Amino acid sequence: MNDLQTSVLYNREIAPGYYRLGLLAPGYPEQAVPGQFVMVQIQSQNDPLLRRPFGIFNVGTLPPLCSGLPERDYVELVYKVVGRGTRLMSALQEGDAVRLLGPLGQGFDCNTTAGPPLLVGGGIGVVPLFMLACNLVKQTQPVRLLMGGRRCDDVLAVTEFERLGVETYVATDDGSLGEQGLVTQVLERKLKKYPTARVYACGPMPMLKAVHDICVRHEVALQVSLEALMACGIGACLGCVVPGRRHRSDQPDYRCTCKQGPVFDARDLSWEVDHD
Ligand SMILES: Cc1cc2nc3c(=O)[nH]c(=O)nc-3n(C[C@H](O)[C@H](O)[C@H](O)COP(=O)(O)OP(=O)(O)OC[C@H]3O[C@@H](n4cnc5c(N)ncnc54)[C@H](O)[C@@H]3O)c2cc1C
Ligand code: FES
Repeated sequence: MNDLQTSVLYNREIAPGYYRLGLLAPGYPEQAVPGQFVMVQIQSQNDPLLRRPFGIFNVGTLPPLCSGLPERDYVELVYKVVGRGTRLMSALQEGDAVRLLGPLGQGFDCNTTAGPPLLVGGGIGVVPLFMLACNLVKQTQPVRLLMGGRRCDDVLAVTEFERLGVETYVATDDGSLGEQGLVTQVLERKLKKYPTARVYACGPMPMLKAVHDICVRHEVALQVSLEALMACGIGACLGCVVPGRRHRSDQPDYRCTCKQGPVFDARDLSWEVDHD
């Protein structure tokens, strides 16, 4: 884990209210694993902001700007503007300073080779699945992505996944892209066709609960990436805990999302209690 003072390479609006942010991030291509996250802190006119957590979309290395200079490692984030912090982020320009803490948390276990992988993303939850897909396509083919969103604008990075060779299936609430309906309906169908699949999911909690119930019914393995509210990102504030599988009101069992997650084997969590 590094605490870096770094700078913005680019910050582009890729769909209304969604941005793709590239930051210089020395060491990230070697260190980061799919499913990990970073804490971003920007300074804006003496308005220091709490760090905000974002999943890692991708990492890579750019060629040197000119001969004699080193190559430049970078990390890419994709974010949705929802409040003050992300609004300030959306104004970042090339060269602006940003503090970056990471890579943080536990990522996806990609080493299991059992069964074909099915990735399920809801809205901005698709972000950590891209680096996972980059990793999986090197080990196994085919990799399938089921993506859901309210409208077509909420379905991100389809082209990037397809360029990797990932088979993508899209469902939107209003039918403006892909089939009309919920991504969980697509998952039901795919699990009938691929009954030995292993599922990786990230998205809003109601979607994850539905994915969990379907995976239990089909007896397939599931890893979930959670987006709990986080203040510190390093296990100090306990603001991000979620109930673990043995949780009872008289016998608490909590998991710290930033240290033990954000990716969990779904069997380690309690799905009986409300996580929100
Ligand atoms: C591990 C992790 C990975 C994440 N990855 C991404 C990502 O890749 N892209 C992305 O756009 N967002 C991601 N998020 C959510 C992101 O951290 C929040 O959207 C961001 O912190 C909001 O900051 P803000 O100041 O703009 O909004 P605030 O003003 O702090 O909040 C605005 C609204 O957003 C809600 N909100 C804030 N944080 C969260 C959260 N963690 N989950 C759900 N609702 C929240 C608040 O309850 C409030 O209603 C991730 C969160 C976690 C914990
Ligand atoms: S965010 Fe502080 S302990 Fe997890």
